[in-house]
Amino acid sequence: NVLILDFGSQYTQLIARRVRELNIFCEIFPYNHIPQDLSAYKAVILSGSPFSVRGDDAPHPDLSQIRGKMPLLAVCYGAQYLAHFNGGEVAPSNTREYGRANLSYIKSGEDFFHEVLENSQVWMSHSDTIKKLPDGGVLLASTHDVENAAYRIEGETTYAIQYHPEVFHSTDGTKMLYNFLVKIAHVPQNFTPNAFVDEIVSEMQQKIGGDKVVLGLSGGVDSTVAAVLLNKAIGKNLYCIFVNNGLLRKNEFENVLHQYKDMGLNVKGVDATARFMDALAGISDPELKRKAIGRVFIEVFDDEAHQLEDVKWLAQGTIYPDVIESVSVKGPSATIKSHHNVGGLPDFMKLQIVEPLRMLFKDEVRRVGKTLGIDPELLGRHPFPGPGLSIRILGDITLEKVRILQEVDAVFIDGLKSWGLYDKVWQAGAILLPVNSVGVMGDERTYEKVVALRAVESTDGMTADWVHLPYDFLMKVSNDIINKVRGVNRVVYDISSKPPATIEWE
Ligand code: XMP
Repeated sequence: NVLILDFGSQYTQLIARRVRELNIFCEIFPYNHIPQDLSAYKAVILSGSPFSVRGDDAPHPDLSQIRGKMPLLAVCYGAQYLAHFNGGEVAPSNTREYGRANLSYIKSGEDFFHEVLENSQVWMSHSDTIKKLPDGGVLLASTHDVENAAYRIEGETTYAIQYHPEVFHSTDGTKMLYNFLVKIAHVPQNFTPNAFVDEIVSEMQQKIGGDKVVLGLSGGVDSTVAAVLLNKAIGKNLYCIFVNNGLLRKNEFENVLHQYKDMGLNVKGVDATARFMDALAGISDPELKRKAIGRVFIEVFDDEAHQLEDVKWLAQGTIYPDVIESVSVKGPSATIKSHHNVGGLPDFMKLQIVEPLRMLFKDEVRRVGKTLGIDPELLGRHPFPGPGLSIRILGDITLEKVRILQEVDAVFIDGLKSWGLYDKVWQAGAILLPVNSVGVMGDERTYEKVVALRAVESTDGMTADWVHLPYDFLMKVSNDIINKVRGVNRVVYDISSKPPATIEWE
């Protein structure tokens, strides 16, 4: 188990992901909440930071229980922090120290650089530089512009590097993390999907015992994997509820419900389309749509849960990035849209919460899902927003508009699949615009709806680029949509990136 102390760097989660790729379990804590009991940790990594160690507001944690007592790797700010307060010197740098650089000098015979060759490319991102190493500092590597790019402290297993090994452009970054964690700190590489499943299943069994658990399935990856894990742990005491809000993709409710039953889940499908449509009638404002949907979802879910007797737990598919976000150095980041799932527990359901995936990143959830034998197609699904097609129908929502958009979306998504493009895209969908445009079909003038297609590349949805889909594909899909979907006579493709646009249009 590895402890990562976060000083607020944009790359901290990336460090954790790289460590996990080595099958080593790690947890992120903010620098101002260091766990009291460190006995479970075999090594500590200090992250980078937007702060300067010379600033008055700079993070200044007490590392006396860590430094010299256990293997420590300090990255960027961490490296400067160790230098600045221990007899070294940190000053603003004269030259630009951002971007790619090469390790022009590497001290030979050092485990940290085992199998790393001179000239190895690393990624720099800092405006201060270490002018003088701290007491006991031994220089391990330099670049052309940065003399003190890596050092260790004599007599300790303390290592410090100015560059970011976690960033993809640091070519040997993962190797250096491996050298530090495995060769130097001897941390076992035993965090595999199979080991996780065994451990979490027995943990859930102990925690839940013979109690009943209720879980809302959404058709998405997280809730599905959470359900299958809990099903393995407690079987029929898990009651799943899958609500159709009428805003899912075409045939999604029926197909996914069928799949869930095939997987042996104890699931009840609830078609609440009418309730959602009533609540949405006449609403055009995106945030009001989200609120209406959130409210009705809770009502429907609660009605269903009340029909089950003696339920003690509510299971949720929360994953690690949400957990980190909620305890982060900066605090939960401001929500631009009122998203991200209907929000915790409704007050009137006094249930205890169980979150089997709370320590996993998304790609790990998929790997665990694969180990559990879940259909790869289900695991590879694009993300789909909780409010569904309602936020892809600009303006007010009617059943007819939902039908049109479902048809358009199905042509687009099926097309991506049959052209082998689906897995190359992070998320895709269609948007129904609130305008009509003139067209001509046969000899007749038409005046019908415009739809926009959107396909983006992303890793976490925070930033995104539009995908350069082949023109031939766009031509075919546009033709199919206009020919097959009544009510649509024009198709456009969204070529905006996020930022400044967002992925959804509402
Ligand atoms: P934006 O539009 O903010 O979307 O760039 C980023 C990601 O979040 C999804 N999204 C939502 N998911 N409830 C959700 O569960 C919402 O209200 C919501 N709004 C946007 C969006 O599909 C994309 O994956």
